This record gives sequence, C-alpha cells and structure tokens, in this order.
Amino acid sequence: MSTATTTATARRAPAIALANVTRTYPGDVRALDDVSLTVEHGTFLAVMGPSGSGKSTLMHCAAGLDSPTSGSVRIDGQEISGMNETRRTELRRERVGFVFQAYNLIPSLSVEDNITLPLRLAGRRPDRDWLRTLTERVGLADRLSHRPAELSGGQQQRAAVVRALAAKPAVVFADEPTGALDLRSAHQVLDLLRALVDDLRQTVVMVTHDPAAAARAHHALVMADGRVVEALDGPSAPRLAERLVALGER
Ligand SMILES: Nc1ncnc2c1ncn2[C@@H]1O[C@H](COP(=O)(O)OP(=O)(O)OP(=O)(O)O)[C@@H](O)[C@H]1O
Ligand SMILES: [Mg+2]
Repeated sequence: MSTATTTATARRAPAIALANVTRTYPGDVRALDDVSLTVEHGTFLAVMGPSGSGKSTLMHCAAGLDSPTSGSVRIDGQEISGMNETRRTELRRERVGFVFQAYNLIPSLSVEDNITLPLRLAGRRPDRDWLRTLTERVGLADRLSHRPAELSGGQQQRAAVVRALAAKPAVVFADEPTGALDLRSAHQVLDLLRALVDDLRQTVVMVTHDPAAAARAHHALVMADGRVVEALDGPSAPRLAERLVALGER
C-alpha cells in the first residue's frame, strides 16, 4: 500500500457529510434546497434560521430519521441514502445520539437506568468507565439512583446529554436543548456541551433560536428557505442576531 493510500484510509471520515441534499414535499415545498455541509469530529455546530427555514428537516436528514429526495448523506463515512429502514435504524442506534427540548426521560426509571436504556435496547454492554467519566463531568454521579422527577430541569437535561453520549455516537443532535430551561441551567447545559466537545472530542449539532446559545458553538449556520445563507466560524451573538433580524424583515 502506498503512503498516500495509507494516509487516506487512516483519516477518519467526517461525522456528517451532506452533498447536494434536497428534500421536497408535495405541493412544491422545498424544505431543503441543495444543501451541502460537513461536520468534522470534535466540533460543535449550531443551526439557526427563521421558523420554516428547514432546520428540523436538515437535522432529520442528517441524523438518518428522514430520507432526502436527492443528494447524499454520510454518517461517520457511511452513505445512508439507499439504505433500507432497518439498516438506517441500526446505524442511528449505533452512531447517533439525540437531545430534545423536553428531556424525554422515563419517569419510572432511575437516572442510571434512563442513561443506559438505549444501550441495553441495542443489546450492548455499557462502558462503565465512559459512563463514570460522563456522569462525573455533568455533576450527576451522586444522583444516579434518583428518579427524573427528583432532579431539576437542568439536571434532567444533563442526564439526557449523558444518555445521548452513552453509546459513544459519532454525533449528537440537539434540538432546542435549552428551550425549556431557565437562564442559569441553560448556561450550564451549553457549557457542558462545549466542554464535552473540547475535552472529550464529542461532536454536537444543535438547532437553536437563541443567538447567545449558538455563539457557544465553534461554527454556526443560518438557514432561510431551505438553504444555508450564512456559515460563521466562531460566531458572535450580535452578528447572528443581526442576520436573523435581517431575514425576518425580508
Ligand atoms: N411533513 C411535511 N409535509 C409537508 N411540509 C413539510 C413537512 N415537514 C416540514 N415541511 C415544510 O418544510 C419547511 C421546513 O420545515 P422545518 O420543520 O424543517 O422548519 P424549521 O426551520 O425546523 O422551523 P421551526 O423553527 O418552526 O421548527 C416548512 O415550509 C414546512 O412547512
Ligand atoms: Mg423545527
């Protein structure tokens, strides 16, 4: 094998790669219109844009929850367009984590059982060291036997973050993860996401309406009418707010 080939195969594929992705709905709705983007491992990407601009559609296509009408989606190097539903579900279980606005913890289970549930459903044995690292990191190590109702909203969302990362996914998608939290808890969750990316080389894609939240990411995309209209590195909240206001005023 030549050196060039060795280097090429040793380099890890991006966590997410979309090429010319279009998603249409009946009635000539172009929810996504020829979107291409790459999310490298160990990066934190925020996705912003007005209501109806295609953020959720982008996230669903990139996470393998939805199939694009045309174009290519690769998760951790694996092409998902053309995969059948079963295979896509398997890949998602193995390689993708989710955090939702509403935490979605199961009330009757302890925090620990909530965190390990997706792994157990996938028939995988939890990596105890990794889970200890995560729970200590998010400050929940002494809350593992509690039920979700015994935790604050911020603590519940931090448990949901650990659950999303338990299987060491290639990428975590977070849809408005701070939408239901007070300012202080929101800050904690954002600090946590950023630290998990910077220190543990996790990869996060976060949809948010809050420019201050998006400014905690390494990169930000602004969407409008199914297209990426701006891509910012090291985004600032004022710049993002300005862009969003301009889009709202069209
Ligand atoms: N299942 C569907 N059938 C028809 N049209 C859809 C469907 N899902 C989304 N759309 C349309 O696609 C466009 C993009 O929707 P999407 O949900 O991705 O927007 P969004 O940016 O997530 O908005 P919000 O900020 O309100 O969550 C919208 O025009 C929406 O009406
Ligand atoms: Mg949405």
